Amino acid sequence: MKQQPQCFLLVLSVTITGSVSGSWDMVVHPVVNVSRGEDAVLSCSFSHPQQQWYSGEITVKWSMRESQSRPFFSCSVKNDSMEGFSSCSVSGLKYFLDGDPRRREVSLRIREVQLMDDAEYFCRVELEGWRNSYHEKTELYVRAEPQILSLSVVEKPSNTRSHPRRLQCEVEGHPLPKILWLLASRKLTDNQGDAAQSGLYRLISTVPYLEEEELTCRAESELGGAERTYPPSNRLMVTLSVRGLITVLLLLLLSTGVVVSCLRNR
Ligand SMILES: *[C@@H]1O[C@H](CO)[C@@H](O)[C@H](O)[C@H]1NC(C)=O
Repeated sequence: MKQQPQCFLLVLSVTITGSVSGSWDMVVHPVVNVSRGEDAVLSCSFSHPQQQWYSGEITVKWSMRESQSRPFFSCSVKNDSMEGFSSCSVSGLKYFLDGDPRRREVSLRIREVQLMDDAEYFCRVELEGWRNSYHEKTELYVRAEPQILSLSVVEKPSNTRSHPRRLQCEVEGHPLPKILWLLASRKLTDNQGDAAQSGLYRLISTVPYLEEEELTCRAESELGGAERTYPPSNRLMVTLSVRGLITVLLLLLLSTGVVVSCLRNR
């Protein structure tokens, strides 16, 4: 399907100009993997039949999700101009052109990618002349380590037969993590709850919660794991700080003792 218009164009350009040095080509990576928070470079370079002598305008367009969607990044530069393409290289603070369209490099740099940047992108170049354009698809895969977004007790209407009090855990990650519920003994709970997706990269799971119980919600994916315990471990913190205080007091006593005995010995 895609080849047809191209062949048609090729035949046309051969008949019109009588010579042709090749056809359009565009090189992109099918998939670019980047971790959340890092910069991504979607590389894109191209060649076209008239590249030996083309002096006209070069327009670069980057769009997202669908090839026909409105480009979020667009810039034009004349090939025979010496001007800098500063208007091209910066678009807001997020997107930058990486390379010079005059040298047929039109890669896109995306600053500090987030999960919402995870999508298919389309690199498009348009030159002067009838149907003189080409595009190619590249996919940005934003990796995100599992995170616990929240862990809290929710009250369910008491007319349901299940426990009215439930512990609810929401996690995020890409790939989507799985949720495990652990007892204080680190054993898995009998009821692992049902997890439901609450967003493209989010999952919610709830389990029955009895008073005074200590439960840990753990999110796991191939990128790692994260966990949070309910109730938040205040008790542990208190014992730790009490112990810390006692140690400090003991040390103080000891050192005053040393000082005193030193003074006496003088
Ligand atoms: C711009 O001109 C240079 C020099 O003539 C040529 O090498 C290059 O391929 C041209 N760029 C495009 C996009 O045609």
